[in-house]
Amino acid sequence: MEKIVSLCKRRGFIFQSSEIYGGLSACWDYGPIGVELKRNVKEAWWRSMVKERDDIVGIDASILMHRSVWKASGHEEGFADPLRECKECHQRWRADHLEGEGCPDCGGELTEPKMFNLMFKTFAGPIEGENAIVYMRPETAQGIFVNFANVMETTRKKPPFGIAQIGKAFRNEITTGNFIFRCREFEQMEMEFFVKPGTEDKWFEYWLDQRFNWYLNLGIKKENLRLREHAKEELAHYAKACSDVEYLFPIGWSEIEGIASRGDFDLVQHSKHSGKDLSYFDTDTKEKYMPCVIEPSSGVDRNALAFLIDAYDEEPDKDEIRTVLHFHPDIAPVKVAILPLSRKENLSRMSKDVYSTVRKNFNAQYDDTQSIGRRYRRQDEIGTPLSVTVDFESLEDNAVTIRDRDTMKQIRVPVPVLVDTLNKKLAGEPMEVLPPGGKHWLGFEGK
Ligand code: GAP
Repeated sequence: MEKIVSLCKRRGFIFQSSEIYGGLSACWDYGPIGVELKRNVKEAWWRSMVKERDDIVGIDASILMHRSVWKASGHEEGFADPLRECKECHQRWRADHLEGEGCPDCGGELTEPKMFNLMFKTFAGPIEGENAIVYMRPETAQGIFVNFANVMETTRKKPPFGIAQIGKAFRNEITTGNFIFRCREFEQMEMEFFVKPGTEDKWFEYWLDQRFNWYLNLGIKKENLRLREHAKEELAHYAKACSDVEYLFPIGWSEIEGIASRGDFDLVQHSKHSGKDLSYFDTDTKEKYMPCVIEPSSGVDRNALAFLIDAYDEEPDKDEIRTVLHFHPDIAPVKVAILPLSRKENLSRMSKDVYSTVRKNFNAQYDDTQSIGRRYRRQDEIGTPLSVTVDFESLEDNAVTIRDRDTMKQIRVPVPVLVDTLNKKLAGEPMEVLPPGGKHWLGFEGK
């Protein structure tokens, strides 16, 4: 974990929030490379959930919601962790995180556990009174439930169908740490899938399978991923079943996503509290029912951490160790680097032309500082799958060299087919199927 934290800082993935003021605990800022990684994670999720399906639509609800939402959902009453405080040093812990540990360090006596609500409370408007209390949402899910009727009416969707949302959530966690694993401000990717009662078990199995495979398809190693079914006593009182997708972090197997069969709890609660009937009436069969919900709920930050850890490798290369992130191309923050061999004017001109063509198609970086070896290393460290080198020969044959991050193999391709070749390569076609490499590749005529 220390190596990942240090790489993230060094290369501009993730910085501590408010660092120049000593930092704000459990809040993190994504830097220029990290923000691309995070966007790619969200884009891959949105693509598989919304863009590639006809039965799920997206929304973007506001973070601040009517206080009644949190009364109906049970969060105001029950979204709390047990807290114990040391009577000597006044440090606080989550009681269930203390099990078996001999803290506190000062040897002081602990108070009895007290329930501590994790929602951040603030006031809407200029008067700080009881009537102005609003909460920063601790999950995005409620924004979906309260829009269920709006979405159904405007999209003419009927169960089985889903509503997806990506957005910030806030929890005043008592104990934090482990880098971006547990933050007080984080991002969730949640989807609520509404189904006819009686079909929820089938759909639960379906979503377990879909979500588990999503991670594998984005390159997470099978041996580092598992599904863990919750025991009966772990389940929320309304949940019928729940399984976590767990990743083998350096801190051990930990949750990156929860998939829950929530029954009709949420829609029933919001119907009761709002007075609006949220049941579904099927005009064809004349049946009326309260849909049941299957919810895959994933954390963007925990995803980013899992992708970073899974991709990280240190490989011997000649007399050195190369640090490399073997990101799946969809997750890699930068897809292609353009590296001119020298800064000579004619070479720079050609390289910038190549760069301007490539960047229209992929997130690309141009780097002409220091030796080519150092530049390859820099790209390896941020996980750039392909680097394109423009050399003096390029001025003669209008061809450039593509170097593959994982195999370090190189091939030479004519500039007019460069974008097409990069596309194929990023889609997973091995180097071998490309035209034979080397500067003597003559299959293409044209300068
Ligand atoms: N709507 C259900 C829900 O919010 P959850 O298990 O509490 O379920 C879902 O949260 C996901 O959100 C988790 O699997 C995790 O990835 C992420 N998450 C929850 N709390 C987090 C925190 N403090 N920091 C980072 N991610 C968190």
